[in-house]
Amino acid sequence: VKDESSKHQPDYDDIITTLPVGESWNLPSNLYKYQGFWCTPEFLNGVISAKQRFKPLDKDVILCTYPKSGTNWLKALAFSIMTRTKFDFSSHPLLTTPPISCVSYIEFEHAQGVDASREFPLTSTHIPYSSLPDSIISSDCKIVYICRDPKDVFVSWWYHVNYFVCNDKGPISLEKAFDLFCQGIVLFGPFWDHVLEYWKASLERPDKILFLKYEDLKRDPSYYVKNLAVFMGYPFSLQEKAEGCVEKIIELCSFETLGNLEVNKSGKLQGAIVDAEHPAKIFFRKGKIGDWKNHLTGDMANRLDRIIEEKLSGSGLKF
Ligand code: A3P
Repeated sequence: VKDESSKHQPDYDDIITTLPVGESWNLPSNLYKYQGFWCTPEFLNGVISAKQRFKPLDKDVILCTYPKSGTNWLKALAFSIMTRTKFDFSSHPLLTTPPISCVSYIEFEHAQGVDASREFPLTSTHIPYSSLPDSIISSDCKIVYICRDPKDVFVSWWYHVNYFVCNDKGPISLEKAFDLFCQGIVLFGPFWDHVLEYWKASLERPDKILFLKYEDLKRDPSYYVKNLAVFMGYPFSLQEKAEGCVEKIIELCSFETLGNLEVNKSGKLQGAIVDAEHPAKIFFRKGKIGDWKNHLTGDMANRLDRIIEEKLSGSGLKF
């Protein structure tokens, strides 16, 4: 879906080594605080490089997420909405390619020194709104953000991070990780700042930023997928609706379909940051609302709920 058009070697260690350092969730790299959010040096190289070099395409749609909030689901949906006249559902790229490889990732690519030329005006990022490249903010491109109950995000994160731990510290305990999450010390966190910035921006510029919730999309996919298509500039025609195109996309992108595909069960992820050894299935765990109930105690849930309530108070955003 993508090919490389130019390469450079990002190296912003002189900036990164001056930043405040935070605990790394037992991952090999520390977290550094840059412009108010926590990030590893690898990603920071990508973030800073993207700020200087990223140029959106005309009519670009940029999928922005806090990690573990449904990024891959949104990628699959947006990709299949945008490309639906190009691909047949029976031989669709998503049947043989993980969603993460169908949609480019701004900071991943910039970390690897790649400005990818893109076939479709669709890309993605975890960069917080206030640290996005100016070229995005000042452009006419559209942003789609999806958020998710922070308790489910945390549990999903904890599993995800423990897949990547490959040093003598071993996996991080749920309790330790939870404490760091509640302090806001987590990759691309604090979670609440990430969500709030996009939420406020979506209220200020509803024509430019669509704010979705994972839970809403789960409960009423038909409504939100049609909305998403309209917002992206690819509305479904009456004929497409009559022919069941919306339902076909929902079915193709469902957790059940994607999670059961061989490529997402046993495929390997490519790339310099996401190590080639790591399996695509880390992005397809349970796909449920409320799995936190199987992991967090009542006290833990109350602690995070209270923090989120306080941080979001007055914003109109609730989980
Ligand atoms: P769980 O770990 O709770 O199962 P991201 O794509 O942002 O990394 O988020 C991953 C989370 O989304 C995981 O949550 C994963 O199982 C879930 N997920 C992946 N694909 C999905 C889909 N098609 N529908 C719903 N949830 C999905």
